[in-house]
Amino acid sequence: MKIAIGNDHAAVELKKQIMAYVQELGHEVENYGTDTSESCHYPAYGEKVARAVAAGEADCGILICGTGVGISIAANKVRGIRAAVCSDTATARLVKQHNNANIIAFGERIVGVELAKDIVKAYLEAEFMGGRHADRVAMIAEIEARG
Ligand code: RB5
Repeated sequence: MKIAIGNDHAAVELKKQIMAYVQELGHEVENYGTDTSESCHYPAYGEKVARAVAAGEADCGILICGTGVGISIAANKVRGIRAAVCSDTATARLVKQHNNANIIAFGERIVGVELAKDIVKAYLEAEFMGGRHADRVAMIAEIEARG
């Protein structure tokens, strides 16, 4: 898979470790995040990854900030994006199976590196279940279309 990754200054170290891990798993990863600890604005990075995923330039995205929250809120403003904050592996699996999340987010200040790797693996290995879940995801798209 081709994966877009993005982060702000609060998540540079975890981003580097996750990039290496995703490559170890055999995926291609494109870095849209910052690589310095200089203070920056997380919405810009959430938007970059979201636009790459929405345009089909990446199959899915990973966003990391201090908590995972701000950057995911920003990403969710892009049409077609379903970004989900995950701080545990069960949620990471379920956001793909039930919500067909196309971006996962987490926080360097919240999860350790080993848990973050497990979260990424659980998400990447899960599959959307479709059926009644597809109807609900379609309802989310309808809300988005109504503006
Ligand atoms: C940056 O200090 C921090 O606010 C940001 O990384 C993120 O946690 C926002 O949701």
